Amino acid sequence: MSPKLNLQTTIAGIDFRNPILNAAGVWCQSTAELDTLLTSSAGGAVTKSATVKSRLGNATPRLKSLPLGSINSMGLPNYGFQYYLDYVTKQQATDQHNLILSIAGLSVADNLTMLRQIQSSDYTGLVELNLSCPNVAGKSQVGYDFAAVADLLATIFTFFDGKLGLKLPPYFDLHQFDELSAILNQYPLAYINAINSIGNGLIVDPLTESVVIKPKGGFGGIGGNYVKPTALANVRAFRLRLNPTIKIIGTGGISSGQDVFEHILCGADLVQIGTALGTEGPAIFERVTNELSDLMAAKGYQNLADFRGKLKTL
Ligand code: DHB
Repeated sequence: MSPKLNLQTTIAGIDFRNPILNAAGVWCQSTAELDTLLTSSAGGAVTKSATVKSRLGNATPRLKSLPLGSINSMGLPNYGFQYYLDYVTKQQATDQHNLILSIAGLSVADNLTMLRQIQSSDYTGLVELNLSCPNVAGKSQVGYDFAAVADLLATIFTFFDGKLGLKLPPYFDLHQFDELSAILNQYPLAYINAINSIGNGLIVDPLTESVVIKPKGGFGGIGGNYVKPTALANVRAFRLRLNPTIKIIGTGGISSGQDVFEHILCGADLVQIGTALGTEGPAIFERVTNELSDLMAAKGYQNLADFRGKLKTL
């Protein structure tokens, strides 16, 4: 990397040496996996979305890698909220702050329980409230119910004064960005993360004339190359509407430095890699960071701020 290049980025006062993290769910279920991320070239790590109690998740096969991306219906396998709260608190005590604690309660009450526990714990780092898990049978994605999101935020901010981000599902209609941004702009959110997988897609294998994953009749969240244009559109649409104090994490379709560059041009402060991390492993962070550095050097950019959000329109 050229000595003049600086990939540093900040969300709610938390510094990241570079803007490239794992996406929640990938390479982050155990503390061993999280340790591997923190000793890789990643800018930091997000923990597997936690539920109050540990879960085994859905029946297998529940994840399939495909030429253009992936489909998954993991069903929130995780070691339970306390396991991840203990991990990030321990890391914080050793001055490791580049972490995000992800939570995905199965109900409003569960989300409030976990946020109250965080509020009364020693952990003061970033928290990502996942409003977009598509893979638990019988549970709909909260992020598509704007009245429920408004109610939830109103309740949360009566007691929570930590650094809160929201993981959102993809939206497809410009009115959705207007309506949701008007709600989000009323609260001191640290960030939003756009996008989760495109929920309830279906991959068909013509040879076997079958679906490719077992849960929910084969329906699952789609990630990877399939979703990049939708992810870029969500990052861009929210950047144009949200208060500048609400930062944006761009997730979706990132497997190269150029993909990171495009997300940042659309307004992302940080990015996360899901599908491609799953196939390539943590070595991907060094490759993608080098590709981003080379691209910036070729364009004469020294900091992410030199091009962040500066997408040109015709
Ligand atoms: C799972 C999938 C998601 O997209 C998500 O946001 C949370 C959990 C899962 O199936 O485990």
